[in-house]
Amino acid sequence: MSLLAQRQTQHGYASAFGPFDGRIWLNAAHEGPLPRVAVAAAEAALREKVTPHLIQDDAFVDLPQRLRRLLGRLIGAPGEQIILGNSASWGLQVLANGLPWRERDEVLVLADEFPATVFPWLVTERHGVTVRQIELGEPVLQPERLERELSARTRVVAVNWVRSLTGHVVDLAGLHEVCERRGVHLVVNVTQGLGALPFAVDALPVASISCSGFKWLLGPYATGFAWVRPDVLDELNPIQAYWLALPDGVDLDLNHEGEYSLRDDLGARAYDVFGTANFLNFAPWAAAIEYLLEQGVSAIAGHDQALVEQLIAALEGSGYEVVSPTEAGERAAIVVVSAGDPRQNADIYRRLAQNRIDVALRAGNIRFSPHLYNTFDEIDRAVAVLIEARALTR
Ligand SMILES: Cc1ncc(COP(=O)(O)O)c(C=O)c1O
Repeated sequence: MSLLAQRQTQHGYASAFGPFDGRIWLNAAHEGPLPRVAVAAAEAALREKVTPHLIQDDAFVDLPQRLRRLLGRLIGAPGEQIILGNSASWGLQVLANGLPWRERDEVLVLADEFPATVFPWLVTERHGVTVRQIELGEPVLQPERLERELSARTRVVAVNWVRSLTGHVVDLAGLHEVCERRGVHLVVNVTQGLGALPFAVDALPVASISCSGFKWLLGPYATGFAWVRPDVLDELNPIQAYWLALPDGVDLDLNHEGEYSLRDDLGARAYDVFGTANFLNFAPWAAAIEYLLEQGVSAIAGHDQALVEQLIAALEGSGYEVVSPTEAGERAAIVVVSAGDPRQNADIYRRLAQNRIDVALRAGNIRFSPHLYNTFDEIDRAVAVLIEARALTR
């Protein structure tokens, strides 16, 4: 895309968000803002709840169906394969509670992984499963290392696609190849990548992905979804039963009670979070996903990468170390930098906030995570403050 086209696109994106209260939000890895179309959807849902005669019965079915379809389009899967959740953790706990474990099975996770990718598996220890935490000693789990770590007991490997603290992108295709060959389920938390990078399960059919909705997918907090490959879904034992979980075309009959039996025709929706007609959250989230799809994730990824590139290039020779990968193709939209000393980084972080620039301080480093609503001018401004702050805090 030409620079002019890029700048035109960026203005389109930016005007669909905010206002940001005069601040520069470079922190999507922590919290993504609602686009305006999603604000309008939230306001409509709120209005309907204030005057409930506006809530149509059909909406209890239509909203989850619509959200499933949109999320399916986002990852290259049919909508009916989507599990609606309230977090990234939701989908992981579905697997941890639903897979048929055997005594002495093993789940592999990384010792320094984001906790949401580790905690859900700990319940499997009640079935005699070992959750083994690999001490990595390098930025990402490489396929060769995984191959060495697998044993005959390993059933699941659970990793993040993009590492939260450093922005490293994991070679999922490489890990998938190893896991497939060894008959192991690769389960991926895609929270820090999806929305900023394209990902399609029809191209890379790992065992399962799970994702939070409130970061790069621009939804409210307490949204999320999972996809479980159909053959893996077939392995799962029922872990829950919900009165509103019904196949498409089957209407709820509120006039007959007392004929209760578990359904076996629900597919992925048997594992949905309860309350799927969660109007206040899912209506704005659906609007946000629709907006992302309209823009196209590849175009958004191009814009995010251009912002990241500008940031990295501007820091060259500035005295900052870029902790995250700098090569296109290896990086996500997370740029982690350090002035060298965690205390100085904390001072610099405070100065950025005083200058109305919001980033994150993580593991003693400064983490930038720009997304589509950010502009090239905002990156210039952040770099100027960053460089000035380094000189002032030395
Ligand atoms: C990699 C990753 N996964 C998950 C989450 C959030 O987890 P959940 O949606 O399960 O609350 C975060 C947010 O901080 C994250 O960085």
